[in-house]
Amino acid sequence: MEVANLLTEMEKEDLRILMAIEIGMKRSEFVTINNIKFYSRYKIEETLFRLKKVHKLGLIIRDASKHQIAYTLNSKAYDLLALHTLVEKNIISQLGPLIGKGKESDVYSCMDDNENIYAAKFYRMGRTSFKSIKQLRDIIGKRGHTSWLYVNRLAAKKEYEALEEIYKLKLDTPKPIGYNRHIIIMSYLRGKELIYFKSIKRPLKIFNKILKQYREIYKKAHMIHGDLGEFNIVLDEQGNILIIDWVQWVSSDHPNANSLLERDIENICNYFQKKFSIESNVNEIISSFY
Ligand SMILES: Nc1ncnc2c1ncn2[C@@H]1O[C@H](COP(=O)(O)OP(=O)(O)O)[C@@H](O)[C@H]1O
Ligand SMILES: [Mg+2]
Repeated sequence: MEVANLLTEMEKEDLRILMAIEIGMKRSEFVTINNIKFYSRYKIEETLFRLKKVHKLGLIIRDASKHQIAYTLNSKAYDLLALHTLVEKNIISQLGPLIGKGKESDVYSCMDDNENIYAAKFYRMGRTSFKSIKQLRDIIGKRGHTSWLYVNRLAAKKEYEALEEIYKLKLDTPKPIGYNRHIIIMSYLRGKELIYFKSIKRPLKIFNKILKQYREIYKKAHMIHGDLGEFNIVLDEQGNILIIDWVQWVSSDHPNANSLLERDIENICNYFQKKFSIESNVNEIISSFY
C-alpha cells in the first residue's frame, strides 16, 4: 500500500503539521495557515515549508478561494497518522495486502513484530453513499459539526469497544488488538465471507455454530449485531467462523432491539434455507434467544 511507503519518508515535523491540521479540523473542515501555525507551535517559515512538503506528497487539500489560504487532511493523511501511531505503539509493524472491501471500509492484512497476522479495518464512512450518512447520524447523534474524521474515529471506537465486550465471553469472536483514529486491528480469519462459498462441507453444523454463538452473545453480553448475514460472517476451510462488522450493534434494551435481532436470525435462516436447503423454524429459534 502506498501509504505505508510514505510513512518511511515522513519526518516528525511533517507529522506534526498534519496533526496540527487534524486539531484544527475539530472546529472546521479547512484550517487556516495561522491556525496551523498556532496548533503546531512552529514558526511561520517552518509551517509554510512543511505545508508545502506534505501538499506535494498529496496529503492535504488546499483551499485558496477564501480570504485566507486553508488546508484540510485527505484520507491518505489520516491513514498515515493512524498507522504512524499504531506502529509507534508496537501494535503493528507492517501493512499487507487488501483482504476485503466492505460498504464503509477497506480491510488490509497486517503484521506485528512477532509475525502475527491481523486484520486492519480502515473506516471510510461519510463521503459516498446515503446509507453511510444515515448510519453515521445514528452514531453522532445530534451534534452540529460532523467532520468525516470524527465520524470514522467514532465508528472505529464503537466497533472496537463492541469487540472487547464480546471477546470477554471467550467465544471465537474477533480478538481486538488495538485501534487508533479510524483503524482497528483485530484477529484475522483466513477465509472468505459465507456468501462466496459455493458449497460447504457440513452446512448444518455451520448453521448451528453461528446461531449458538450469536445466542450466547445475546444472552450474556446483551448485544445485537444488527447487520448479520452472509456478508458479515467469515468462514475458513476448517469450518471456523468469525462474525465480523459490529459497528451497528445495539444493546438489548434498544427500542428496536427485538426487530433487529429477529431480522438477523431470519437472514441466517433464509440464507441456509436457500443455499443449502436447511429447513428451520425461525420462530422457534427466535424464542430460544429470549
Ligand atoms: N477479522 C477479519 N478476518 C478476515 N477478514 C475480515 C476481517 N474483518 C473484515 N474482513 C474482510 O473485510 C470485509 C469488510 O469488513 P467489514 O467489517 O464487513 O466492513 P464493512 O462494514 O465495510 O462491511 C469483510 O467482508 C471481510 O471480507
Ligand atoms: Mg460488512
